[in-house]
Order: sequence, then C-alpha cells, then structure tokens
Amino acid sequence: MTRFILAIALSAALAAPAFAQTAAPVIAPGDAARGKDIYMRDACYTCHGTTGASTSFVGPKLAHAGLTANRILRQLRQPQAQMPAYTEKVLSDKDAADLIAYVLSLSEGPSPSGKDIPLLNR
Ligand code: HEC
Repeated sequence: MTRFILAIALSAALAAPAFAQTAAPVIAPGDAARGKDIYMRDACYTCHGTTGASTSFVGPKLAHAGLTANRILRQLRQPQAQMPAYTEKVLSDKDAADLIAYVLSLSEGPSPSGKDIPLLNR
C-alpha cells in the first residue's frame, strides 16, 4: 500500500512540470463559494484534503501559486495519471468554472502558520 501511494506521488511529481501553461483561461470566471460546495460534493477533498494542503493524501497539494484555470480544467477533463476524469457528464462547464475559482482561491493570502493559532502562542 505504501509503495502504491509512493508510486502515485512520484508520478504526480514527475508529471507536474510538463503540465504548466500560461494561456488565457478558456472558461468564464466562476463563483468560489459555490465551488467549495462542489469540491466537497465531488469528493476532491478525499484525495487533496479539505484545504487543498494535501499533507498525507493521495493527490498533490492544490494550494499553490503555479495553478491556472486552464491547468485545472485540463486536469479535470484529461487527468495526467491517477486522478479520475471529471467529464462534462458529471461536471458541467459552469460547475467546473466554480470549482476552478475555489481551487485558485486556496492559494490566495498568507499560508497558515503556528503564529496564527492562538492556542499555540500562550
Ligand atoms: C482519487 C483521488 C483524487 C480525486 C478524487 C481527485 N484528485 Fe485531483 N489529483 C489526484 C492525483 C493522484 C493527481 C496527480 C496527477 C494525476 O494523477 O492525474 C491529481 C492532480 C490534480 C490537479 C493538478 C495539480 C497540479 O499542481 O497540477 C488538480 C488541479 C486537481 N487534481 C484537482 C482536483 C479536483 C478539483 C478534484 C475534484 C473534482 C480532484 N482533483 C479529485 C487525485 C485525485
């Protein structure tokens, strides 16, 4: 099992750079609040964690500045490797746009640190 998870993590790490792109988004700006509901409904959190931090999950971290709308859309429709595909049949373009807005919002603002948690600073 550990070996399986390592293999997935390794393939994700190797595949990531080739996936980078900078073209203008092909999808209209979405509603991040609605996207959060879709993220939970469609079980993205089971592999990427509820905050996209993915510390001990199967999927890679989503809260990072390297993501673009196009890159997320391509990953949803035609995943690089292990991730299940989310085709138009299960995820409409509108839902995809909202989901993308939410995933992009995960990397906005400062990353949480121990200094921001009152209980750890007594
Ligand atoms: C069964 C586990 C699983 C589920 C469920 C899942 N993912 Fe993934 N995801 C992965 C894995 C593994 C990768 C690494 C690339 C691959 O295998 O395709 C990945 C890669 C990604 C990437 C690319 C990250 C990058 O830095 O390029 C994005 C974006 C992403 N997932 C978003 C989502 C969203 C949004 C959902 C929900 C609709 C979702 N994933 C559901 C496992 C999952």
